[in-house]
Amino acid sequence: MEKLWTEVDAMLEAHLAPPESVLIEGIERAKEAEMPAIAVTPLLGKLLMILAQSIGAKRILEIGTLAGFSTTWMARALPPDGKLISLEFEPKHAAVARENVDAAGVGDKIEILVGPALDLLPQVEGPFDLVFIDADKENNPHYYAWARKLTRSGSLILVDNVVRDGKIVDSTITDPHVQGVRDLLKAIREDQGVEATAIQMVSGKEYDGFALIRVN
Ligand code: SAH
Ligand code: DHB
Ligand code: MG
Repeated sequence: MEKLWTEVDAMLEAHLAPPESVLIEGIERAKEAEMPAIAVTPLLGKLLMILAQSIGAKRILEIGTLAGFSTTWMARALPPDGKLISLEFEPKHAAVARENVDAAGVGDKIEILVGPALDLLPQVEGPFDLVFIDADKENNPHYYAWARKLTRSGSLILVDNVVRDGKIVDSTITDPHVQGVRDLLKAIREDQGVEATAIQMVSGKEYDGFALIRVN
């Protein structure tokens, strides 16, 4: 099946999110800097962009910048006076992301703050229309709590990588990254103030998924 879904992904991408030189150059920069290739796929990046467009997002918060791919997709949805704040732990990642978002022509709308997200979040001023959580998975429950504090009624919160090859249902796996996802799901279940769903995804080599939460 893996071969088939890789082929299907390539066809969907070719039709719906065709290669862009500016993004390909960004991937090259990330490779040169020896950064992991774990960014959103173009199809998922586009979903982020379309969601942001659909809710008329003007302020977006991202946790986990890497090389700025999800950042760029979401920033493309912003109006001229819109703003995206992205939090990144690794200075090298933040530097490459800065080059990439500038090259993509969206840099003026993006502020990248460098440090552990949990140290930065108390300085961040809400409310945000969209929050994308995609950093160290063990802190997902904390990031979710912050996202709730920094959003308003109608805001969306999207959390990447909630399936992790299905590891979440294997009780013999106690890896904190996987446990972080389980604790996140529990926190959402106990949260009376939101509607939430999640989608499993296959893409290329990966079996993963995302959760989408709307604040009531
Ligand atoms: N959102 C990106 C991918 C992010 S990968 C995209 O789809 O294009 C996860 C990123 O989170 C990495 O760059 C990693 O350095 C960063 N990260 C890990 N722990 C962090 C922390 N405690 N605070 C902020 N960023 C963190
Ligand atoms: C990993 C992290 C991600 O954000 C992702 O989309 C895929 C993989 C990882 O840490 O392995
Ligand atoms: Mg991710």
